[in-house]
Amino acid sequence: METRDRNWWKESVVYQIYPRSFQDSGGDGVGDLRGIINRLGYLSDLGIDVIWICPVYDSPNDDNGYDIRDFYKMQAEYGTMEDMLELIVSAEALGIRIIMDLVANHTSDEHAWFVESRSSKDNPKRDWYIWRPGLGGEEPTNWESNFGGSAWEYDEDTQEYYLHCFSRKQPDLNWENPEVRRNIFSMMEWWIDKGIAGFRIDAITFIKKDQRFPNLKTEEGRRYAPLAGASLNQPGILDFLHEMKREVLKPRNVMTVAEAPGVPIEQIHEYVDEQSGVFNMIFQFDHVDLDVKPAAKGIYHSWKLTDFKHALSKWQTETADKGWMALFMENHDHVRSVSKFGSDSLYREESSKMLAAYYFLMRGTPFIYQGQEIGMTNHHFASIEEYRDIESINFHAYETALGRPKADILNHLAKRSRDQGRMPMQWSAEPMAGFTSGEPWLRVNPNYTSINVEQSLHDGNSILHFYRKLIRLRRENKALIYGSYREIYKDSEELGGYVRTLGNEEWTILCNFTDRNAAIPAPLAGSIVLSNRNDHEADIMKPYETVICKAECEAGQEETASPSC
Ligand code: GLC
Repeated sequence: METRDRNWWKESVVYQIYPRSFQDSGGDGVGDLRGIINRLGYLSDLGIDVIWICPVYDSPNDDNGYDIRDFYKMQAEYGTMEDMLELIVSAEALGIRIIMDLVANHTSDEHAWFVESRSSKDNPKRDWYIWRPGLGGEEPTNWESNFGGSAWEYDEDTQEYYLHCFSRKQPDLNWENPEVRRNIFSMMEWWIDKGIAGFRIDAITFIKKDQRFPNLKTEEGRRYAPLAGASLNQPGILDFLHEMKREVLKPRNVMTVAEAPGVPIEQIHEYVDEQSGVFNMIFQFDHVDLDVKPAAKGIYHSWKLTDFKHALSKWQTETADKGWMALFMENHDHVRSVSKFGSDSLYREESSKMLAAYYFLMRGTPFIYQGQEIGMTNHHFASIEEYRDIESINFHAYETALGRPKADILNHLAKRSRDQGRMPMQWSAEPMAGFTSGEPWLRVNPNYTSINVEQSLHDGNSILHFYRKLIRLRRENKALIYGSYREIYKDSEELGGYVRTLGNEEWTILCNFTDRNAAIPAPLAGSIVLSNRNDHEADIMKPYETVICKAECEAGQEETASPSC
């Protein structure tokens, strides 16, 4: 490892907060900034270095804050700008940095820029958004928004359509317009000056649109086609991003993690190369989206363990020595990982820890999503009325109109709805999980009486304590941060794992993804440093067992093909 490769954001562990569901301090059923401040001690004890806080800006909340009305004002339900500044300072006092969500692909339709833009065709801000005339009384193209239905919304007053990749209350900014870019950049600078350490950059691969505005191929029986083909990672996008890097990011040396669906693996280095790339790291979604195909969003696909491992490992292999990834299992747009990739009943504890070890020690910066550290699970909502997420509600309406049976739609949402990951944080066995003293904005998972932070703190063997150990282990062993990556048991439908090597240190992370014993074909190298069970037997991995082993190798032996030295 060269010292020049070292960087604080590589050595950090990030904790993601979805403010609406984290901690309510005021009793209105909605989480808030004061709630986060009150829980900083908990996060500091966990050992994390950075908090990514999802949008807390003023917003009419059509998409829970991802529809920003004012970048320079806090959402009143969450608190004030003074609270936000206090959060930054209080976190800093504990050695925790804050990164904010940067939503730059779109604004709310209530943002002053859009209000002006829609006011008339010759308003100076008309071109700040994407307006097109209709075609023969129809939408300008057949693009389907990410939240279902047409991506175009008709404006009666000016008789044109505007584009929205997400909800109709999230009009897309026109990044072709240099004034738009300049205004976004100065907003970024303003926040950096307030003391934040960087950004999680929302939906950034959507900013460039195919300027020919072509119609796209539809699936049989569907009226619209997913807009990805004309609005995701389109040629020319990197010019915009390099401008952002040149103008804002590089001079200020902030941390950047981009939500970057649509970036093919061949292009990863163009995005994250330390010299010539644009961001420190990106989120890719192959592993969490392996159960859906983009072209047929609502259809659930079964998958095998080898698909899951490949979805993560191919990115690891591509960045084995160079490049950097954001590592995650959950976020506010996805379901709980133990319910999806592990077992959320009998083996909830074991499989949560196993999944943690599997992704956490890969090459990249690990992210923990609130509640993941206590093994929170999905819940089967009884009716659509219980859902709050716009994507799920739209999906329900759209599929109902296509004649899909209700039970089938609800089953799909139980496995895919974003609200699965948004249920309130389970702090204790008190009413409403200690999240609020009022009525929570989204239902609490009834299993909070047994799955909660308080219980996890008391149980020295809990998932929470396992995360603490993982964080410490990673911090104390640079091989687990900077070491190269090599997958093992690639073709196994039971075992998964990899080896990290740095100098003469070789670490093996091995996991059993099944609820049965699995034989280990080759002896484990070195000695066990951490495991989720205390009864490891040679040659066998027990149900959902994970072991982390360390071996010292002879000089020149680091790149062996088998997991043993
Ligand atoms: C990102 C966010 C998601 C939001 C969307 C539109 O995907 O993670 O929550 O709905 O962008 O801003």
